[in-house]
Amino acid sequence: METAPVFTLICFVVLVFSHLELSEEADVLGVEGSISDGETLISSLETFELGFFSPGKSRNRYLGIWYKNSPGAVVWVANGNNPIAERKGVLTLSETGNLVLFNQTNSVIWSSNVSGTVQDPVARLLDTGNLVLKDNKSMPESYLWQSFDHPSDTLLPGMKIGWNLKTGEERYLTSWKSADDPSPGNLTYRLDKNGLPQLFIDRGSVKIYRTGPWNGIGFGAVPAVQNLVFKPIVISNENEVYHTYEAASEAITMRLWLNQSGYVQRLILNQRSSWDVLYSAPFDKCGSYGSCGVNSICSSRRADACECIKGFISKSQESKNCVRESSLDCQKGEGFTRLVGVKVPDLLKFQLNESLNPTRCEAECLKDCSCTAYANMNVSEGRTGCLMWFGDLFDITEVADMYRGEDVFVRLSASGLGLTNESKKKNRVAIILVSIISSAIVLGLISFIIWKKSKKRDVVLHSTRMEGEEDEREVPLFAFSTIEIATKYFSFGNVIGEGGFGPVYKGNLPTGQEIAVKRLSKDSCQGVEQFRNEVVLIAKLQHRNLVGLLGCCIQGDERMLIYEFMPNKSLDYFIFDHKSRALL
Ligand SMILES: *[C@@H]1O[C@H](CO)[C@@H](O)[C@H](O)[C@H]1NC(C)=O
Ligand SMILES: *[C@@H]1O[C@H](CO)[C@@H](O)[C@H](O)[C@H]1NC(C)=O
Ligand SMILES: *[C@@H]1O[C@H](CO)[C@@H](O)[C@H](O)[C@H]1NC(C)=O
Ligand SMILES: *[C@@H]1O[C@H](CO)[C@@H](O)[C@H](O)[C@H]1NC(C)=O
Ligand SMILES: *[C@@H]1O[C@H](CO)[C@@H](O)[C@H](O)[C@H]1NC(C)=O
Ligand SMILES: *[C@@H]1O[C@H](CO)[C@@H](O)[C@H](O)[C@H]1NC(C)=O
Ligand SMILES: *[C@@H]1O[C@H](CO)[C@@H](O)[C@H](O)[C@H]1NC(C)=O
Repeated sequence: METAPVFTLICFVVLVFSHLELSEEADVLGVEGSISDGETLISSLETFELGFFSPGKSRNRYLGIWYKNSPGAVVWVANGNNPIAERKGVLTLSETGNLVLFNQTNSVIWSSNVSGTVQDPVARLLDTGNLVLKDNKSMPESYLWQSFDHPSDTLLPGMKIGWNLKTGEERYLTSWKSADDPSPGNLTYRLDKNGLPQLFIDRGSVKIYRTGPWNGIGFGAVPAVQNLVFKPIVISNENEVYHTYEAASEAITMRLWLNQSGYVQRLILNQRSSWDVLYSAPFDKCGSYGSCGVNSICSSRRADACECIKGFISKSQESKNCVRESSLDCQKGEGFTRLVGVKVPDLLKFQLNESLNPTRCEAECLKDCSCTAYANMNVSEGRTGCLMWFGDLFDITEVADMYRGEDVFVRLSASGLGLTNESKKKNRVAIILVSIISSAIVLGLISFIIWKKSKKRDVVLHSTRMEGEEDEREVPLFAFSTIEIATKYFSFGNVIGEGGFGPVYKGNLPTGQEIAVKRLSKDSCQGVEQFRNEVVLIAKLQHRNLVGLLGCCIQGDERMLIYEFMPNKSLDYFIFDHKSRALL
């Protein structure tokens, strides 16, 4: 009998406390609620935090959003242009449903500026890093306002940059002025929607970097392996054209940052709560926009990066521009020279026709006397388009294997196609010599391979039949996630070389073992079974005293070979591994 009141009291206390807890969710700001300097909102999984901060050496206060376990990484700033002098700022949610930031003397410093009134407004900081304003009663995804619509210098997964075609409104990233000053600088990262979408970094109105056009899988000259971790997306419909991206796995925390020196960095948060640079652009001397003149190709492999396209010559010593050796006259005999694997020319004067199939693209370009080049571009998965250029060709860059460039066909006159008689003669001799030598080598190699294969296939079949699991043990299959983590998600900084078969990455397994990961380019497209058989073969062919093959990794149509990393072995071994090269 005596316990009843106590029991009731406990129940009451529990009820009150649970109620308090409910109404004090850390990620929500209710109507008339406020956040003063020193207080924060924290998203439900504690990924992001919203509050006041002072960047770098500055003493000004700004309202912003950052990673809870990496507070230096600010992803959004409300009042970049209008700092608060003292630690006295207050963010409130007004009765009409607007977020309003006040300073000490109650002047409005910033506002979400939504028109119309809302019945039951709430502001919530989501785990995506998005601060949203909504009617508490409305659908979860219908927002009156969201910070994702007002980007600062950071693109988070799921955030969009691009165009609303109905209103003409554009969203893009703007760099901070400096590390101490988040006010908008003069660098932007934006999507050009003309023709095929391309991304640009601009300084003011001057282009300083271009990705190359979207091809349905990625942007032209961005390493393809990046897209396995950092999945780019372009959506184009009658309402909007935009670019966003997602992480390959939810376990990865990543952001894209336009930094104050004009670079776009793809960053991944590591276990030590610091950021690894996966990739940054522009990254070499050919990366900056138009580093060579018109009608030339930039190659970072050459000491003198710029070279005229075949059939073009340097205009003068001073000028970087190249002109045709013999002009086009639209007569019979004109044809094309092929530029293999390049970042295609910028879309300055161009035409895209998606109904022209690859065979008709060339004919169509020839037919039009002003067409100077064409390319059969992948415009989305499974669809191609005929892209034709008119006038001078600009910003062509030779790209490494790992970037998967496109082939561009440049129109030349009949005489431009042939060389002058003298050099023709010299060339003919050289060609004959080269072909004799190379056919001898090829023949030799082929017979060697056939001999080896016939010998070793027997062994493989034999061992498979006789020993069962032997092959499995000899060539372990590594999980893709293991390789991802070992190579810091194929981080740019981990690339140790670039071979004929694709890039080679250095990595560390959780066991501490150092590995070299050779990622085969997709041209060596093979089925999974075929690939594993080949790997077994390599393993068997390998001498014990050479670098050891540890295993392989298969993910989608990616094929990777995992080797022991030996610092004192020549890098060439990983890259120009002749045995595997000949076999694969
Ligand atoms: C939103 O609505 C829910 C239930 O309808 C309520 O529990 C919650 O307190 C409301 N939140 C705010 C901030 O008004
Ligand atoms: C508050 O902001 C207003 C307008 O920007 C400014 O004039 C005023 O000096 C600020 N008050 C303080 C105490 O900084
Ligand atoms: C608020 O929005 C109105 C129209 O929607 C606009 O005219 C005004 O300039 C905006 N104010 C601010 C401070 O952005
Ligand atoms: C961009 O800003 C930097 C530093 O604020 C300045 O030095 C540079 O001249 C500006 N460039 C342009 C094109 O406005
Ligand atoms: C911007 O990125 C580039 C390339 O990754 C780097 O060299 C530079 O230091 C960065 N600048 C800042 C201000 O972080
Ligand atoms: C594409 O090419 C076809 C065939 O030449 C032509 O009929 C059509 O008008 C072209 N479309 C565009 C958009 O130029
Ligand atoms: C276009 O896409 C197809 C299939 O996805 C691929 O096989 C082909 O190599 C791509 N072509 C180019 C030029 O990227």
